[in-house]
Amino acid sequence: MQTLPPWPYPQLVAHRGAGTLAPENTLSAMRVGASFGYKMVEFDAKLSRDQVAILLHDTDLERTTNGSGNAADHPYGALAKLDAGLWFSSKYSGEPIPTLEAVARYTVAHNIACNIEIKPTPGLEALTGTAIARQALNDWRAASVPPLLSSFSLTALESAQRDAPSLPRGWITAKLDEDWRQTLTRLGCVSIHLQHLLLTKSLLNDIHTAGFRVAAWTVNDPDRAAELLQWGVDSVITDALDLIHAA
Ligand code: G3P
Ligand code: MG
Repeated sequence: MQTLPPWPYPQLVAHRGAGTLAPENTLSAMRVGASFGYKMVEFDAKLSRDQVAILLHDTDLERTTNGSGNAADHPYGALAKLDAGLWFSSKYSGEPIPTLEAVARYTVAHNIACNIEIKPTPGLEALTGTAIARQALNDWRAASVPPLLSSFSLTALESAQRDAPSLPRGWITAKLDEDWRQTLTRLGCVSIHLQHLLLTKSLLNDIHTAGFRVAAWTVNDPDRAAELLQWGVDSVITDALDLIHAA
């Protein structure tokens, strides 16, 4: 039985700021998350053409902004003019795509813990891992708990490990191969972030015994969240802030 690494994070994490209750990956969403008592937020970060780190889930701009094309093909100056709230509701029109820097200022000031998902534009995995990890190291230096960096991309995690080794890392996956222990060990991860339907009590125990923390996503059924927490999952990442109540 390995010793588990420190996990200074809350059990409940607001997915993309406030799940589906506000325009995802915006500061307004984070304010909604905080209004529901959530003390930790997960969000998706990638780079503009001129390598400014911004929050955006998709590679392209269509679904969540009034822009078009890939975010990585536009300089930040152009992305800053887009509306990232109107697609959700007229109540949020004028909401900008936030920079990672702005999110750091907001979350550090309000003592909200962060899970920064490094979500590279395909082909930019190493560059994005390096840029976001280095920036996180600087922008969260006054934070009471370090930001948890996570990614589906092993390349991005390798870059983060090399360039900001002191920041904790989590590997996100929706499938578990036999060699998951080796992958987590090689990347120096503290945690695995598993699609919650993969999780059984026995697997959770195996991961803990191997010395890694477990975050489950995206858990929107309160009964499933209660079950996972009762089993001892370390964090639950959820959209259902209105149904799954922060203590
Ligand atoms: O970080 C967990 C979860 O956010 C991964 O999926 O697509 O919502 O970023 P996605
Ligand atoms: Mg995400």
